[in-house]
Amino acid sequence: MSQTIGNLSPETAKARFLELQAQLDAADLAYHQNDAPILSDADYDALRREFETLQDAFPDLAALSNRSTTVGAPVSSGFEKVQHAVRMLSLGNAFEDGDVADFAKSIRKYLGLTGDVPLRFTAEPKIDGLSLSLRYENGQLMQAATRGDGSVGENVTANARTIADIPQVIENAAEVLEVRGEVYMSHEDFSALNARQTAAGDKSFANPRNAAAGSLRQLDATITKSRPLRFFAYAWGELSEPLAQTQFEAIQRFSDFGFQTNPLTRLCSSVDALIAHYKDIEAQRATLGYDIDGVVYKVDDLSLQERLGFRATTPRWAIAHKFPAELAWTRLEAIDIQVGRTGALSPVARLAPVTVGGVVVSNATLHNEDYIAGFDSKGQVIREGKDIRVGDWVQIYRAGDVIPKVADVDLSKRPDDAQAYEFPMVCPECQSPATREEGDSIRRCSGGMICPAQAVEKIKHFVSRAAFDIEGLGAKQVEQFHADGWIKEPSDIFDLKENFGSGLQQLKNKEGWGDKSADNLFEAIEEKRLIPLRRFIFSLGIRHAGEVAARDLALHYGSWDALTAALDLTRPAALAHRAGDEAVEVERHAASTEGRRAKITDTRNAAVTACAVPADAATAWSDLIDADGIGPVLGLSLSDSLSIAEERAAIDRLVGKLTIENAEQAETADSPVAGKTVVFTGTLEKMTRAEAKARAETLGAKVAGSVSKKTDILIAGPGAGSKAKKAADLGIQTMDEDSWLALIGQA
Ligand code: IVH
Repeated sequence: MSQTIGNLSPETAKARFLELQAQLDAADLAYHQNDAPILSDADYDALRREFETLQDAFPDLAALSNRSTTVGAPVSSGFEKVQHAVRMLSLGNAFEDGDVADFAKSIRKYLGLTGDVPLRFTAEPKIDGLSLSLRYENGQLMQAATRGDGSVGENVTANARTIADIPQVIENAAEVLEVRGEVYMSHEDFSALNARQTAAGDKSFANPRNAAAGSLRQLDATITKSRPLRFFAYAWGELSEPLAQTQFEAIQRFSDFGFQTNPLTRLCSSVDALIAHYKDIEAQRATLGYDIDGVVYKVDDLSLQERLGFRATTPRWAIAHKFPAELAWTRLEAIDIQVGRTGALSPVARLAPVTVGGVVVSNATLHNEDYIAGFDSKGQVIREGKDIRVGDWVQIYRAGDVIPKVADVDLSKRPDDAQAYEFPMVCPECQSPATREEGDSIRRCSGGMICPAQAVEKIKHFVSRAAFDIEGLGAKQVEQFHADGWIKEPSDIFDLKENFGSGLQQLKNKEGWGDKSADNLFEAIEEKRLIPLRRFIFSLGIRHAGEVAARDLALHYGSWDALTAALDLTRPAALAHRAGDEAVEVERHAASTEGRRAKITDTRNAAVTACAVPADAATAWSDLIDADGIGPVLGLSLSDSLSIAEERAAIDRLVGKLTIENAEQAETADSPVAGKTVVFTGTLEKMTRAEAKARAETLGAKVAGSVSKKTDILIAGPGAGSKAKKAADLGIQTMDEDSWLALIGQA
C-alpha cells in the first residue's frame, strides 16, 4: 500500500486524507456515542492504517488533521474518574401492554400484596439524553458525574456548572444530596447548533442525544457553555436524610429546590391508568420539542421501593415502557458470518445504509440459521415463514439502543435469482466443523482456541470493562496485538512488557504508540495482576458464566483453588449428568405421551447409574448445582471448559501470573449474616419468600433450598416440617421470622 501511496500527487493525497478523516470521524461517532458501529473493526482498522500511512508519507497533512494520535482511545479518556456513592442503574424495558401488566403483577407478588390493596405508580416521559449525577454538600454543587459504567463515571463538574437548569446552590438542603436526571437538547436548539456547526465547517450531530453527549463531554468547559444544554431532575443517589415519602413528593421537592421537573409526571393507581397516560404522552411526542423514547413507571411509595430493591443492574420498582421501534426498508446486500467468543456462528446482515430513528444503519443481526429460514428458537414460524435471502428488501427496526433487527421481508421485490441462504457447516475462520447441540439454535465452531476468531474474542472479553478492564487495551488494540502474534492468549498480556518493553521489537516503536502510552499500558497491566475472584471467573468467558453467575460462584467457593478442586472432583458426576440429559433426549424423541414423565425419569436414572459416579463426586456436583444461581447448565459448561486440556493449561498459565483475591463481601462484611448459609422454610408472614431471599443476599448471606451440614441458620415459619426436623438433628441454629429480622436489623 505504501508504495502506491508514495506515488500519489499531493492534491490526490490531500483529497483522500480528508475523505478518510471524515469516514473515521463518522465511525468514531457511531461507535462511541451511538453504540451502533457503522464499520466492522477490520474495515475501521484498514481505513485507519491507510490514514496513518498517508500522513507518514505526506507530513504536511498532519496540519489538516483533527484526529487524536492515541489510537482508538475512548472519546472520554480526558476526564477524571468518579466512583458513584450509590450505583447509577438502568431500567428494564416493557414493549407491550402485557409487559406492563406483568410488571405490576410481579411487584404485587414480590410484596405479597393482593389485588385489593392499592398500589400507586408515577408515570413520566423517558428523556432521550444522558444521565448526570449532581452532588450537593450543604447546598453547594460539589461534583457532577456522568453515569459511565454505573459504578464509575466521569467528572464533568466544570461543564455541568455552565448549564442554566442546574442550580449552583440550593437552599435548605441536607448535608449530602445527590440529584440525578437527564441532560438533553431541545429540537430547536439542536437544529440551530447543527446549522452553526455546518456554517463553521465543523461536523454536525446525528441527533439531539449525540449533540447533548458530545457537548457535555467537552474537555473545554467554554465549549459546553456555548451549547444549549438542559436538565430534568427525576432521581437521586446518596442522601444524608430522607427526601420524601413518595416518588411524587420527591420530584416536587426537586422543583422547590429550583430544578426543572417534567410537567407530564402523573400519579396512576392502575395498569389501565398507566397505559392511558402512556398513550397520552405518545400522542404529544412530536410536539414536545425534545426527544423521548418511552414512559417510565415507578412505584410511588418509597418504603416499597426500598423493599423491592434491585436485580443485578435494574430496579424491581421501575420499568421503561418504550415506544414502538422505528422502521425502514432497505436491500440486504450480503450475509456475513461472525465467530464469537464461545464459537457461536452469528449471521450478520450487510445492508444498503438506511436511516432508522436518526442513525445510519448498515448492519443488522440475523441471530441464527433457523431465524434466517423463518423460525424462532422454539421452532415456531416467524414472518409467516418467509426466509431471508441476499438481494431481498428487508424491513429494519431499532428498539431502543439495541442492535438493529430484521422485522419483515418484501417477497414482491425478491429478485428471481435469489437463492435460499445456505448456512456454513464449517467455521469460516478456521475451517473446523461447526456443529449444533440438541436444543441449541446456535451452530458453533468446534475449534476452541485454535480458531483465531474465538481466540481474539476471548481476549477482548478478557480485557473488557467487567473483567480485567485494562486501560489502554481495548478491542482494537487486542485485534492488532493478536494479528501481530504478540498476544495469543490472555496470559500473554502479562508478558507484554518483558517481551516487547525493550529489544528489537518494541511497543513504543509500533504504529500509534509512543514512550508514554507504552509505559502507561505496561503500568495498567501491572495494576491488574491483583484481581478479585469474581472478575477473574467472569474474564474467562465461559459460556453461561456471566457477571452475576461469576459473583455467585466466587461467593460459593471463596477461592480459585477451592473452585477448581471442586470442579475437578465433580467431573465424573458432570459427565453422568450429561449422559442422563442425552438419554432423556433420545427418550423424548421415541416416547409416546403415556407414562412419559415416569419413563423419562427412569431413563435418566438408569443412564446416570450406568456411569458409576464416586460418592464424593456426586456430593461435590450437588453442592455445585444446588448453590444459589448456579444450576446444571452452568455446572456442565464450567466442568467442560476446565477439562479441555489445552484450555486448562492456558488458564493455569494465566493463574501463575496473577494473585486472585479471595471473595469476601466487602460491602456486607459487617453484616451479621455475611457469608452464612441460610434456609427459609414454612410460611413467612412479614414478606414473601422472594423478598426474604433477596434481602438476605443483599446482606451477603447465601440462601440454599435444602438443609445440609453447611447450613448455618434455618428460619422456620409456621408449618415448617421435615427441614426443621433435619436442622434439629444436625444441631443447626433455628429461629423464627421475627428473630431473623431482629438479627439483620430490619425488625
Ligand atoms: S429513572 C434506577 N427516569 O433512562 C433507575 N430514568 O434506561 C433510575 N432516563 O439511565 C432511572 N428519563 O438515563 C429514570 N424519567 C426518567 C428517565 C430516565 C430518562 C434514562 C436514564 C437511565 C436510563 C435507563
